[in-house]
Amino acid sequence: GLALGYRSGDHGDIIQMDFVDSYQNLTIKTLMIMNWVATFCPNASHAMKVDADIFVNVYLLVEVLRGYPTKGFITGSVIRDGRPRRDPKSRWYVSEEAYPDSYFPPYVSGAGYVFSTDVARKVSLASRSVPMVPLEDVYVGLCLRAAGVSPVYAQSFLALRNLFEVRHLAYDRCAFAARVIVNGFKPAELLSIWEDFSVNRLTC
Ligand SMILES: *[C@@H]1O[C@H](CO)[C@@H](O)[C@H](O)[C@H]1NC(C)=O
Ligand SMILES: *[C@@H]1O[C@H](CO)[C@@H](O)[C@H](O)[C@H]1NC(C)=O
Repeated sequence: GLALGYRSGDHGDIIQMDFVDSYQNLTIKTLMIMNWVATFCPNASHAMKVDADIFVNVYLLVEVLRGYPTKGFITGSVIRDGRPRRDPKSRWYVSEEAYPDSYFPPYVSGAGYVFSTDVARKVSLASRSVPMVPLEDVYVGLCLRAAGVSPVYAQSFLALRNLFEVRHLAYDRCAFAARVIVNGFKPAELLSIWEDFSVNRLTC
């Protein structure tokens, strides 16, 4: 938002909360999203969480959503072998006090994921009893485990291609047409990609 020069007063569509917006505090931000969806979006079937630097192929998203369960469902790029980093200098450091186990349960990469809105309520409720860790996507995974929800890997049926691309790919109209998200763009890049993609994707 800021990089494009929008402010919350322009359209009244930016939700803000009173905490320091730091990397360590991302878990608070994600829980705020879950609470918001659980409270104010009772009629929505699904919600999506994406980082600000993500290309979202809205056309393919709407298509795949039609096939998604509307209860107890969360999908994205699932990480099954995540382990806590014990080096205090690491960006992803987690102390043994905060998380004693040597493996994380399966979780969806925080870059972008889609969930049925009942999952927001389940995560929100579980968060009352699951101790906080500073990794927001891992934390959602811990709440999902507590709530008995297994994240589902998002793949296309035919090509078994990963639909949620958490690596960065250079823009390619047809490669992007086959993915729901692609990671790692600046705001100006997202705008220029969309100009081409929204018009020319049908040529793929
Ligand atoms: C997280 O937010 C709280 C509330 O604003 C603040 O007191 C705390 O310093 C923040 N923590 C970090 C690591 O930024
Ligand atoms: C949800 O749907 C019901 C029934 O159609 C409607 O009365 C209500 O206003 C809707 N709520 C919201 C927040 O859209």
